[in-house]
Amino acid sequence: MKKEVVVTLAALSVMLFAQCAKKMSPSTKEKAKTETAEVTPKAATPEEMAMGKTVFTDNCGKCHKLRQPGEFTTKKWDNILPTMCKKAKLTPAQSTAVTAYVMANAKK
Ligand code: HEC
Repeated sequence: MKKEVVVTLAALSVMLFAQCAKKMSPSTKEKAKTETAEVTPKAATPEEMAMGKTVFTDNCGKCHKLRQPGEFTTKKWDNILPTMCKKAKLTPAQSTAVTAYVMANAKK
């Protein structure tokens, strides 16, 4: 039972890491800058969304009250999230998941 959970989590992190690496390589290179592509969230898996929500509720209300995704537009979150993920000391996989969750629920 416990083993299954661990295996699932391990598989999930590997998946998220792979996705994160894919996402990071173009954005770190200047030439791949395409304005809107950065802000538009990639379709996230339900697992990623679930993890993002958990990471969000567990980590983002520690220093201040939990700010709901709907309080800001994706553009605003795009500025806020990298800083806050760093503040919360999230892993790349957690950052990717929380970003997917927040962006999907952000103010339109
Ligand atoms: C280590 C403490 C800490 C953690 C953890 C943290 N924050 Fe923050 N957050 C702050 C501080 C300090 C500010 C206000 C100063 C600033 O903007 O840097 C802030 C401000 C904000 C704001 C307001 C920004 C604005 O422009 O009004 C939002 C939204 C936010 N955080 C979201 C998050 C989210 C989402 C997470 C989880 C990924 C998170 N925070 C985790 C410390 C933290």
